[in-house]
Amino acid sequence: MEKFYITTPIYYPSDNLHIGHTYTTVAADTLKKFKKAQGYDVYLVTGSDEHGQKIQEKAKENHMEPKEYVDGIVADIKKLWDMLEVDYDKFIRTTDKQHEKAVQKIFEKLYQQEDIYKSTYEGLYCTPCESFWSESQLVDGKCPDCGREVQLTKEEAYFFKLSKYRDRIIQLYEENPEFLQPESRKNEMLNNFLKEELEDLCVSRTSFDWGIKVPFDSKHVVYVWIDALLCYITALGYGTENNEKFKKYWPADVHLVGKEIVRFHAIIWPAVLMALDMELPKKVFGHGWILFEDDKMSKSKGNVIYPEPLIELYGIDAFRYFLLREFSFGQDGSFSREKFLQRINSDLANDLGNLVSRTVTMVEKYNDGIIPAPAKEEEIDKSLIEVSTNAKAKVEKNMDKLNYSQALEEIWKVVRRTNKYIDETAPWILAKEGDKERLDTVLYNLTDSIRIIATLVNPFMERTSKEILKQIGLGENINWEDGGIWGKIEPGTKVKRGKVLFPRLDIDKELERLDKANQKLIDERSKKLENKKVEEQYITIDDFEKIEFKVAEIIEAKDHPNADKLLILRLKVGEETRQVVSGIKQYYTPEELVGKKVVIVANLKPIKLRGEESHGMILAAEKDGKLTLVSTLEDIESGAIIS
Ligand code: MSP
Repeated sequence: MEKFYITTPIYYPSDNLHIGHTYTTVAADTLKKFKKAQGYDVYLVTGSDEHGQKIQEKAKENHMEPKEYVDGIVADIKKLWDMLEVDYDKFIRTTDKQHEKAVQKIFEKLYQQEDIYKSTYEGLYCTPCESFWSESQLVDGKCPDCGREVQLTKEEAYFFKLSKYRDRIIQLYEENPEFLQPESRKNEMLNNFLKEELEDLCVSRTSFDWGIKVPFDSKHVVYVWIDALLCYITALGYGTENNEKFKKYWPADVHLVGKEIVRFHAIIWPAVLMALDMELPKKVFGHGWILFEDDKMSKSKGNVIYPEPLIELYGIDAFRYFLLREFSFGQDGSFSREKFLQRINSDLANDLGNLVSRTVTMVEKYNDGIIPAPAKEEEIDKSLIEVSTNAKAKVEKNMDKLNYSQALEEIWKVVRRTNKYIDETAPWILAKEGDKERLDTVLYNLTDSIRIIATLVNPFMERTSKEILKQIGLGENINWEDGGIWGKIEPGTKVKRGKVLFPRLDIDKELERLDKANQKLIDERSKKLENKKVEEQYITIDDFEKIEFKVAEIIEAKDHPNADKLLILRLKVGEETRQVVSGIKQYYTPEELVGKKVVIVANLKPIKLRGEESHGMILAAEKDGKLTLVSTLEDIESGAIIS
């Protein structure tokens, strides 16, 4: 069996995913189902990209450890994929131990072979995008990707010799026109990035530590993009002993990605693979964005459309159909609830749903629910048979180009043609006139055409396909090849009317319902976050009891030799004396302090501050630039416990 390896991007677990995020995954899953139907051994990888400064900061905002924070969001992402019945084979997390080890091994290998080297980086850094930019790349002085402020940053860093691979990447595009699709993306890469020399890529960071440590220099963590891209091979077990899947499935047949991350997949990723002397993916496809009324969706703009209400109210199939049918995969498209509801009414309820229910009803009414054998053909049948049997090849041709929308359009040509056939042949008149032979033929042709439709639509709308097959008396298993062959339904098969596939919707009512459901979700989500924040601001009595406050007497005070703002204090705490370093030099002279009784946190873990041990912390109150040390109202002996 020939293999086919598909990947979605490795998702950031930063927020709840919106409808735009589901686009890549729904497309990837549909491709998997399509290839599987064709007989391929398909492997689909998705996952979560969990490291980086942004996540570290978000976790902190939520008073959580980064891992604890991402665990919750990753669980939500998986829930969404389950809800959409995405049939992935592996969900790789960049925090998986096996992935971390493999990334370290690869980093070390690249360092040893001098594709990675150490130097200093001075540049303009965009924290949300985790990217460095040069002055000339900025747009209006801001990050060209997200439009936010950048900061001048200087740090020691490791670099990947991206520059070395420029010519080979251009050659790759030239020799493999299929490598980067659609064509417009290729031109973007060639014109915007590959025209001039490529700069080497900074592949380590020291400004935060939530990441995979560089194995031989633990001050550094590996750049998130290198970490995340490597998922495509570590998900297959690369770098472990169990690398059978890697041997079987690599190279990827297609990496599906959104347009904003094409540069990483079509320049950086092949260069890394070239350095590792590995086979290159066969295709990178950069799809367009789903916008909300021509604007980018974002929580801050308040125009986020969440997938859950759409799926809950109208079903997975309507949701998936809409995404793939409405937008041309390579281009941006604009989402609106009206368009969504109208498509359900026109394509699904009117065209497909009606066709199936009319046909099944007629077979029940005119032939006791039994599909008859065709007996009297007429010229007009030829066109139905031709349109129906030709569709499969057209669907395949379009799917090979990842032209989902056109592939569906080809199926709907059959749907519309078959509906028209009902009007043209008017079975109710044939029944009235008693033309049994012709009526049998028409009923047979209708059900066989519906069988073809159900077969072809299966990768896009699995549930609907199965329901249709059930209603025309067939089992759930589809045979893709039969989707191109006429006459496969056995006369004598018994049809069975089932549920209405897609009830017709009252658009105005539904718009209201949808708005409410979306708003409810937004409110619930922000409330959950608020509750969490409030909850986390409280500490319990047990937390409080962990802290030991004591009265201490300052018996000696002097300047810190290596710091402008610090004093070194010797304290008497009951019988014991100890040293504490405190940042109060701006406010007190050493002389003023000696003899004063202060309050300290006594059980704070000792640390070194600029080379001097500090064992405990002196409490002070501070407001508007004024600072005063905390003491007790009455005099009390040092060592007294405060509780
Ligand atoms: N973590 C990186 C990918 C690393 S892959 C080695 C990332 N993650 S993401 O969560 O931000 O995006 C995941 C996918 O969702 C991307 O393909 C992205 O293009 C897609 N989308 C996010 N918003 C989108 C729209 N509004 N419309 C269509 N797809 C968009 O990028």
